[in-house]
Amino acid sequence: MTLPETPRVPPAEPDPEIRRLRELLAAAGRLAEFGRFAAQQIHELRQPLFAIKGLGQLLLEKEQVELDEVLDFARHIVEQSERLTTLVSNLRQLSVPAPTSTKARTEAGTLLLRVTALLDLRLRKSGVTLRTQVAPDLPPLAAPPHAVEQILINLLGNALDAVAANGQPVVQVRARVMAENPRFASIEVADNGSGIAKAVRHRLFESFFTTKGDEQGTGLGLAVSREIARGAGGDVVLLDEPGTWNEPASTVFRLTLPVSQEL
Ligand SMILES: Nc1ncnc2c1ncn2[C@@H]1O[C@H](COP(=O)(O)OP(=O)(O)OP(=O)(O)O)[C@@H](O)[C@H]1O
Ligand SMILES: [Mg+2]
Repeated sequence: MTLPETPRVPPAEPDPEIRRLRELLAAAGRLAEFGRFAAQQIHELRQPLFAIKGLGQLLLEKEQVELDEVLDFARHIVEQSERLTTLVSNLRQLSVPAPTSTKARTEAGTLLLRVTALLDLRLRKSGVTLRTQVAPDLPPLAAPPHAVEQILINLLGNALDAVAANGQPVVQVRARVMAENPRFASIEVADNGSGIAKAVRHRLFESFFTTKGDEQGTGLGLAVSREIARGAGGDVVLLDEPGTWNEPASTVFRLTLPVSQEL
């Protein structure tokens, strides 16, 4: 016996109203994503802009200036402007298709020297002692220097904010191969600042979460840093315990990145 053929039901035409709503939602999603991206870029651009403005203001406030001092300020202004140029050229590259293979490599030691130089004025003004330690056997990191720089500036910026109320502020940085997985390196930033309340620890990496007030923080530093690190195959985490350090430490953030496999 042959069964009667079941009639094929043609797929229902979506209600035009529902289709319009779907399209609107998709566009809104893309728009929200773009808004978030724009906010992140503004956050990154603001740091060197504020630094340049601060340097200019400091010079104007001085009654007398030595030539050496002016030259020092000029050097900082050029460095910060270079940072702006890098950020803007990264933005411009958005319109160019990403290369299929990236052979990005970053020497942690050289990069830390550069980041320290960028923060030099802030360090001197706040009297913070910065100690950096790079393991001699650390291979280059498999990530572009501007990405690692951006993350470290964010982590160190937070550390400097956190130690502001400490009479003997110390920020320590150490870079080494991870003992448990030698294909990764860690760069840890430790400070002896205010510490982080348990109640807010799980929210730190949320976009726009800040305890610094609108004028001081946008709450994007950690969110952006984690996104960049994950994009390079690594991560940024807050350690539950600071671990062992030469100087006392209350808060430690750890950046992990793959090490370069290329010789
Ligand atoms: N080293 C630290 N010590 C204490 N609290 C910290 C530290 N790093 C981050 N935090 C906390 O995490 C919050 C989020 O940090 P995040 O860098 O994302 O934003 P922000 O520093 O507030 O603003 P932005 O970085 O956008 O200027 C901070 O507001 C602060 O409360
Ligand atoms: Mg921050």
